[in-house]
Amino acid sequence: MRSWVIPAGGVVVVVVGIALAVAGSTFDHRFETDGERIYFTGRNEKGQRIAYEGGATSGLMMAGGLSCASCHGGNAEGGRRRMHMLVMDAPDIRWATLVAEAEDGHGHGESGTYDLATFRQAVVVGEHPGGEPLNDLMPRWQLNDRDLAALAEYLQSLEK
Ligand code: HEC
Repeated sequence: MRSWVIPAGGVVVVVVGIALAVAGSTFDHRFETDGERIYFTGRNEKGQRIAYEGGATSGLMMAGGLSCASCHGGNAEGGRRRMHMLVMDAPDIRWATLVAEAEDGHGHGESGTYDLATFRQAVVVGEHPGGEPLNDLMPRWQLNDRDLAALAEYLQSLEK
């Protein structure tokens, strides 16, 4: 994994390279789909930031704001992120993984699988398909249905 160490406000923060690329003004970069753009930039088709609450860094790090890629990685494969004194394990959220975990019972819920409705429940409301709340480290995103569908489509397009 590529990682850079940057002193930020006296705090040493290690992030994956992609998070830095995203925090910069890379909005001009052309993404192939809406979903891909939202995943990497956290911005809608007008270039506006999609609002969120909570999340591991809550405004301390990255004035540019968080995107899914900041935590879930450049290929949505998840991984360990260090933010301040915190070590956080972000899950693999490629669609195939989400669906498989729910099916084989190694996921988080006793019941429930991922479809567009439960994906919305996770990302917007902050609950696993089974109904248990997600950790506060995962932000709650005010995504509209169009953007959610685009994001789901992007995650579905990723190879495992
Ligand atoms: C600040 C870090 C962070 C950001 C940014 C973030 N997530 Fe998460 N996400 C997490 C963590 C940590 C979890 C695990 C929470 C838990 O298991 O309780 C998680 C869990 C999830 C889950 C549930 C996975 C499962 O196995 O059930 C989904 C779906 C998800 N995130 C989607 C997204 C999407 C889509 C975005 C961007 C819009 C996003 N996340 C942005 C940290 C983050």
